Amino acid sequence: MTTPGRNTARRKPPHVLANAPFRKLWTAMSVCSLGDWLNIIALTALAGNLTAGAGYKAQSLAIGGVFVAKMLPAVLLGPLAGAFADRFDRRLTMVCADLARFALVLSIPLVGVYQWVIIATFLVECVNLFWVPAKDATVPNLVPKERLEEANQLNLLVTYGTAPIAALLFAVLSIADDALSTFIPYLAARDTYLALFINALAYLVSAVIIFTLRDIPKAHAEAAVSTPSVLRQIVDGWRFVGGDRLVRGLIIGMLGAFAAGGAVVGVAKLYVQALGGGDAAYGVVFGAVFVGMASGMFFGPRLLRELSRRRLFGLSILVAGVVLAAIAVVHNLVIVVMLTVLLGACAGIAWIIGYTMIGLEVEDRLRGRTFSFLQSLARVTLLLVVAVAPTLAGLFGRHEVTVRRETVYVFDGSNLVLLIGALLAVIVGFLALRHMDDRRGVPILADLLSAVRGERFAPEEAEQPRGMFVAFEGGEGSGKTTQSRLLAIWLRDQGFDVVQTREPGSTKVGMRLRAILLDAVHQGLSAKSEALLYAADRAEHVEKIIRPALYRGSLVISDRYVDSSLAYQGAGRSLDPGDVAKINGWATGGLVPDLTVLIDTPPSVGLARLGGAVDRIESEPLEFHERVRREFRALAAAAPDRYLVVDGTLSQEEISRLIHDRMREVLPDPVPRESEDATGTIPVIRD
Ligand code: TYD
Repeated sequence: MTTPGRNTARRKPPHVLANAPFRKLWTAMSVCSLGDWLNIIALTALAGNLTAGAGYKAQSLAIGGVFVAKMLPAVLLGPLAGAFADRFDRRLTMVCADLARFALVLSIPLVGVYQWVIIATFLVECVNLFWVPAKDATVPNLVPKERLEEANQLNLLVTYGTAPIAALLFAVLSIADDALSTFIPYLAARDTYLALFINALAYLVSAVIIFTLRDIPKAHAEAAVSTPSVLRQIVDGWRFVGGDRLVRGLIIGMLGAFAAGGAVVGVAKLYVQALGGGDAAYGVVFGAVFVGMASGMFFGPRLLRELSRRRLFGLSILVAGVVLAAIAVVHNLVIVVMLTVLLGACAGIAWIIGYTMIGLEVEDRLRGRTFSFLQSLARVTLLLVVAVAPTLAGLFGRHEVTVRRETVYVFDGSNLVLLIGALLAVIVGFLALRHMDDRRGVPILADLLSAVRGERFAPEEAEQPRGMFVAFEGGEGSGKTTQSRLLAIWLRDQGFDVVQTREPGSTKVGMRLRAILLDAVHQGLSAKSEALLYAADRAEHVEKIIRPALYRGSLVISDRYVDSSLAYQGAGRSLDPGDVAKINGWATGGLVPDLTVLIDTPPSVGLARLGGAVDRIESEPLEFHERVRREFRALAAAAPDRYLVVDGTLSQEEISRLIHDRMREVLPDPVPRESEDATGTIPVIRD
């Protein structure tokens, strides 16, 4: 056995593929995946061709039958085969399964009747049920534990990545088939035969590769993979994640996107035929879904980096619905192929965002279960959609609508199914947008257009507070509480909508913080905790009271704000002023008052005014209060535009007059009256 590469500086993928046995298995897997996809396309096309003369209804049902035959074994017998895989020699199981698949697929063109197509399809899928768990169980035997995730990613890559390749290969093969049939008349009978031969050959190649893979241990490995039934996984999974509203929304959205893609795959053969396209065109449409999906997954989130993920999720499903509706009604093959790529891209974006968001949302313990739940659900959804879609289309049949005298518009079952799928996607997308929007109030179109330009949309109106914010500051007994109340009354008299508030203790949580902060019992409270508790109170105050009021256009008057912390905790308690400013900047989100009124009172005067019991801060020595006063004055001196400093020893009326004078300068002029605004809320223009 080769040791995995030691050169850790190399990129990841060569790492696990440097392991020769795994590389071999992976090659076999890739060849088989290609074969599997070729198989599904060729057989549905063949079913359509074999029943071509039997009318639209019979043809639709015939195609639906192939999908059902393909999906049924996994649902019915899945867990049984998983148990078998653990009992037999894995290498032999895989080789035998490959040979059986080779023989069965080869027999289809040789027998050449529809009934045998269904029986052989069913049998091939039964054989697959042994091959897949044997392969899954072998991977941990060949790859060290820490590389397992990488190996699984590669596994996933070939499982889905081979789909568009197979679709294009099918298109090429059916053209080649046409050309060759001039020389080999047998091929002319059904132009999917060549594809089926290649498909059979893929299984034979895989058999040979795996036969030479001697590293698969015969004995039972400890890392045995037991597959619980699909139904069990879904029931269990829902119990774990169904309770979370966001996860539930994501899952429903993702399945909606998946179903939209499935609807196209299910009726593609019929629809392409109705549009006059042959098997090659069917291959192209089939491939377009996957090419779109892959590019959506890769480019979508990168191109629209600035758009909120939740919005992008809902939007992509909504757009998928609209595109699907267009696919249903536009009867032009070229346009349909282009729209199908777009549809695939939308589905891909929704899928990858949903997947990533679930990964972030669901706790580690449940993540694995959630994803396996999601995959089982996706499989069942796909089964239902691809089986039901052509059947429904067949039952509806083909109708002609005469638009004008000579224009006849054909509306058949495939159009109907696509329209139903479109409607479903539009509804799911719309609900996702409504329930999961994290940028309410921001117009979605403007948001999207900026994201396309690579910018984040910053709405001027919504983000900027429209009201006005005035703070009162001052030492103990300075009279600022009285003054802030008087100002509120004065402003209300003039018709302003005023919210009067104070710190600490204006919110529910704030009241409890206030009790801790001011209770003399907590004498030993550390300066840092004190600063943090005041900041906590402030954060709550800003978020719950001040900002909402400013958004409404109110005038907010707060008794104390950030400056109190800078003065009391910074200067008073001698904490680093930079630190205090930083935590408060964070707590308030940088909200600064439009005007701060500082009532400057000498502590000796202020403290003498206080009657009764003193609180924890008031009981501090005089020097403490002196430092606080100096700091307040320094803050005001540093930004005179935003401060009004009033001498606190003046009379109450005098102080009020000074404050009114300053307020008149910053209030809109002329001062609006209540009658001017029907809601009673008068917007205040900021200076
Ligand atoms: P309070 O009873 O509201 O009185 P007043 O504001 O009228 O003085 O008490 C608040 C006390 O909390 C006050 O002593 C100052 C102090 N405080 C700080 O130390 N830091 C702060 O950030 C705030 C808002 C207040």
